[in-house]
Amino acid sequence: MTLKEKCKILQFNDLGDERGKLVVIEGGQAIPFEIKRVFYIYDSDSSVIRGQHANKESEFVLINVAGESKVRITDGKEEMIVELNKPMMGVYIPKMIWKDMYDFSSNSVLLVLASTHYDGNEYIRDYDEYLKAIEEMPCE
Ligand code: TYD
Repeated sequence: MTLKEKCKILQFNDLGDERGKLVVIEGGQAIPFEIKRVFYIYDSDSSVIRGQHANKESEFVLINVAGESKVRITDGKEEMIVELNKPMMGVYIPKMIWKDMYDFSSNSVLLVLASTHYDGNEYIRDYDEYLKAIEEMPCE
């Protein structure tokens, strides 16, 4: 599978009306996992790089519900950059994908939906270690 096929861009439906927009994301429906955790990142700016890790167990969906940011994603072979700039779009990040979030606008609120509860031990924060782990993974 290519990186683009693995890390799908998701378009959510707008159920809004004249009163405003409404986006609903249901675990296992609009996104491919049940949601166990939600966190959001704000007050970052264009000088900051966040993420810089891969997760052995967690899957994520990233959505900029306000403002914008970018996420650089790699599986160690291919790389893609996704501009998160609409509350109705997100990107799905499966397990064992390296990600860097950067270029946050000052009003950026980056919402992250996760498939797991937090466990610091499932993070790989060293890129060389990540590449080694990918090499040792059984072929897809
Ligand atoms: P970190 O993983 O560095 O954030 P990012 O992925 O945005 O770069 O997390 C920052 C701190 O917050 C770190 O001490 C771990 C803690 N943390 C939790 O306790 N629970 C969580 O769900 C997350 C994402 C982070």
